[in-house]
Amino acid sequence: MRTTIEPFRIKVVEPIRMTTRSERSELIKQADFNLFGLRSEDVLIDFLTDSGTSAMSAEQWAGIMRGDESYAGSPSFRRFEAAVKNLMPFKHIIPTHQGRAAEKILFSLVGGEGQHIPNNTHFDTTRANIESSGAKAVDLVIDEGLDPDSEHPFKGNLDPKKLEDFIAAHGKNVPLVMITITNNSGGGQPVSLANLREIRAICDRHKLPLFIDACRFAENAFFIKTREAGQEDRSIIDIVRDIFALADGMTMSAKKDALVNMGGWLALNDDELAMNARNVLILTEGFPTYGGLAGRDLEAIAIGLDEIVQEDYLNYRITSTAYLGNALIELGVPIVKPVGGHAVYIDARKLLPNIPPGQYPGQALAIALYEIGGIRGCEIGTVMFGRQPDGSEEMAKMDLVRLAIPRRVYTQSHIDYVIECFDALMQERESIKGVEITWEPPALRHFTARFAMI
Ligand code: F0G
Repeated sequence: MRTTIEPFRIKVVEPIRMTTRSERSELIKQADFNLFGLRSEDVLIDFLTDSGTSAMSAEQWAGIMRGDESYAGSPSFRRFEAAVKNLMPFKHIIPTHQGRAAEKILFSLVGGEGQHIPNNTHFDTTRANIESSGAKAVDLVIDEGLDPDSEHPFKGNLDPKKLEDFIAAHGKNVPLVMITITNNSGGGQPVSLANLREIRAICDRHKLPLFIDACRFAENAFFIKTREAGQEDRSIIDIVRDIFALADGMTMSAKKDALVNMGGWLALNDDELAMNARNVLILTEGFPTYGGLAGRDLEAIAIGLDEIVQEDYLNYRITSTAYLGNALIELGVPIVKPVGGHAVYIDARKLLPNIPPGQYPGQALAIALYEIGGIRGCEIGTVMFGRQPDGSEEMAKMDLVRLAIPRRVYTQSHIDYVIECFDALMQERESIKGVEITWEPPALRHFTARFAMI
């Protein structure tokens, strides 16, 4: 059949409050044209993030009731630990309240002044945790990963040549090599198993540990199964196990590919590092068997991990993201190609050539999408990255708008509606105006900056 159906039925619903275009024009103005300032009840389709926005299953909600909240010795921890080890056979599994807490613990131990940490592309919180320890975070993705039009099947790959040169330059000051699957900051692009093996071999030669930022590991495994030669007949679970067998540790945000609204973990094999990590954990998160979580959260993660590796789910997930992306390509909307796993990234600078980069075409597009259709996306461009630490302004490499798709939340008719909104947007794109910043904080301005239409 041509149609890939959502492999679930809906048991609980959350109403969407309908709004008109003129209401939305007023609401976004009241929010100073910053989409983070909108009340979520005033959004029809919320594509701000795929993080913590998943719909949990009936089984997960049942697990929530089963959660054992004992301070120590809880069976919920044991179920969580077993579910993680079933896919990711690390010796030590340390729960945290979300991904960045795992990053904070790891880099407070291995980072520090003079250290250099490579990745395909560091996610913002990973970079920030490395930099706040005094270390340097460096991105070494393959060149194709920086070209929005390249159709390379694994644009998230870490460049082996760049990594060799990096290790040669920084030698003893590289505490570990990191690789992010899928590469969120590079468009949700996957990393191949062959690349992971090559990076492992380089790490072995230089005796360096390899850590995986694994937020979207199941989506990455599905891309390996469908795009990498020789992998097509293998099960997702086998591919996932192969991926993690290559690593010495991982950080995880369970808010993505564990289908929960809050949670994360740090996993590793090194006994001494694990002991030190648990000591920091006790100071900042909680006792080692719950970290920053409740027993019920650990249950929901354990069940989510079982559900996320199911092929019917992943087929629906990747097909439905591609369905949106390919429909936008048909309409002539420039997007980052090929379509990633969790999101579609629109090239706003290309879509709105009449708006100069200094007038934030990404923000202008995000505002227009909200006014036209009540859709909330996220600018990833000069608003997010343009302000330099010394207060000066530098144009970002690209002005993108990310439409991140929550897991198991929207149906095909929601997506068809979004496509229709883009059709309308294409008709009126010449009348879309740029914006200026009227107020901004000294750092992380995209969350709270105020804008005015030009
Ligand atoms: N690593 C990657 C690749 C991520 O995408 C995120 C979060 C994190 C680490 C941090 O995890 O939020 O649980 O602390 N990404 C979200 C997003 C926020 O919208 O892409 P966290």
